[in-house]
Amino acid sequence: MSTAPAKTAAELDAADPLAAYPSKFVKHDGVASYLDGNSLGRPLTSTPERLRAFVEGAWGERLIRSWDESWMDEPTRVGDQLGRVCLGAAAGQTIVADSTSVMLYKALRAALDADVERNEIVLDRDNFPTDRFIVEGIAAERGAKLVWLEPDSSLGVSEDQVRGAVGAGTAVVLLSHVAYRSGFIADGPGITAAVHEAGALMLWDLCHSVGSVPLALDEWGADLAVGCTYKYLNGGPGSPAFGYVSRALQGRVRQPIWGWMGAADPFGMTASYAPAESVRQFISGTPPILGMQPLKHMLELVEAAGMDAIRAKSELLTARAVELIERDLVPLGVEVASPLDPAVRGSHVTINHPRFREVTALLWERGVIPDFRPPHGLRIGLSPLSTTFAELDAGIEAIRVAIGEVGEVGDTISAQL
Ligand SMILES: Cc1ncc(COP(=O)(O)O)c(C=O)c1O
Repeated sequence: MSTAPAKTAAELDAADPLAAYPSKFVKHDGVASYLDGNSLGRPLTSTPERLRAFVEGAWGERLIRSWDESWMDEPTRVGDQLGRVCLGAAAGQTIVADSTSVMLYKALRAALDADVERNEIVLDRDNFPTDRFIVEGIAAERGAKLVWLEPDSSLGVSEDQVRGAVGAGTAVVLLSHVAYRSGFIADGPGITAAVHEAGALMLWDLCHSVGSVPLALDEWGADLAVGCTYKYLNGGPGSPAFGYVSRALQGRVRQPIWGWMGAADPFGMTASYAPAESVRQFISGTPPILGMQPLKHMLELVEAAGMDAIRAKSELLTARAVELIERDLVPLGVEVASPLDPAVRGSHVTINHPRFREVTALLWERGVIPDFRPPHGLRIGLSPLSTTFAELDAGIEAIRVAIGEVGEVGDTISAQL
């Protein structure tokens, strides 16, 4: 018989210093357990009202005047807010614009073109597809050489692997700080230092870190970083990305999409392009002002809660997930494909089982929502501010039941064959 965990979910929720936060997010009776905040965060309950105020005020009443009155500075103002609250970045280095993929393209091209003597890009086979695809596209465009790292897929890229791959030809190293599949946290300062010792530039993808793991980009000496705002920053579907360009690099690199909004004088209507000296250079076209409104509200909440408290809750949530998985799911043939050491585990836990594609479909019908990542991975994303321990327990129990049901159907089918 399985033993009960030391504490009940109700006890953990009652002791949670962030217990006031889950009720600030939109909940729906049809969703028993949301375990995918690492893909798309829930909306805040304040978002509809604040969007309405934006539509009626800054947009509806002030109309085009709002560009002069506030919107021109919105990408850097929200960027500075994001940098301060989540990235450990001083003002003047972060913008909000584009999608992560486009921002990645700009940052990679800027880094690759920074030194004509260097034309190698180091990346890893387990990074998210868009990261690998953008790099492949740039290699085809620019004739760059790709140096591939092959990390352990239940962990991630180590500093030693990076040290073994970088050299005099390396232009830039691109890694995810938290791996999208395993949730492994790479060594930010250690890897950045190793890359710098080789004279190369470090570009971090922070999609799975921002808002869940405290970051210190300035302290690490990071050169460039990108990330999305629709996961742990609850900006909504397709909310804009952010880009960080260290102050030391500004003026030294040039991004490749020379739009008017990144020019030194956007309304000068000049004959040819002269880039802005500041991080604004990384903006290309009209910034997605409407799309960055929900993000601003979430950043206020993250600042009030504090990244250290968010990380502490995240560690408790993933530790409980692992505890329940080992007790209830491992006996059913499930394997944990995330680090067991909480110090190097982000805010999601991936588990493998050959039937997880069907299990996930069944769970979604029941309002229990993790996500499936081929070939066999089910990701349990635990967004610290919106997820309760009770919701997590309910989700793991539903996974246990669904594995049993899918297993029985599978057994019947194979018995009939
Ligand atoms: C590591 C990583 N990079 C990038 C992306 C997505 O890029 P985009 O925002 O352009 O769709 C994701 C999406 O989940 C991701 O996990």
